[in-house]
Amino acid sequence: MTTRISVCNGCCCGRVERGNKKVPIEDLKQMWRDNGLGQNVKLNISTCLGPCSRNNVVLITNQGERIWLGGIKSDEQYKEIIDWAVVLEKENPRAKLPESLNSIRFTPA
Ligand code: FES
Repeated sequence: MTTRISVCNGCCCGRVERGNKKVPIEDLKQMWRDNGLGQNVKLNISTCLGPCSRNNVVLITNQGERIWLGGIKSDEQYKEIIDWAVVLEKENPRAKLPESLNSIRFTPA
């Protein structure tokens, strides 16, 4: 089953003028290529996913589960998502979300 990682770069997420962090789109794509990802895990740079107030949102659909992350404030957090994608793609498609990202996980209203 394919995992999809949707990184929001919509009307709010990534908008520096709204006080949000810029989404490092080219860096994400480069890391994706460098790690040979794409067969089992897909990257999607998305328009608005809905929960704008969470600022810099990522939605991951994996094994029928929807995982929402929000309030991403650093390139390091985006890199942690890519590192997890490498594990999902190459080692274990059922690998749990890393503990370090649990603090930014949320359930949309
Ligand atoms: S712009 Fe990202 S959730 Fe709306």
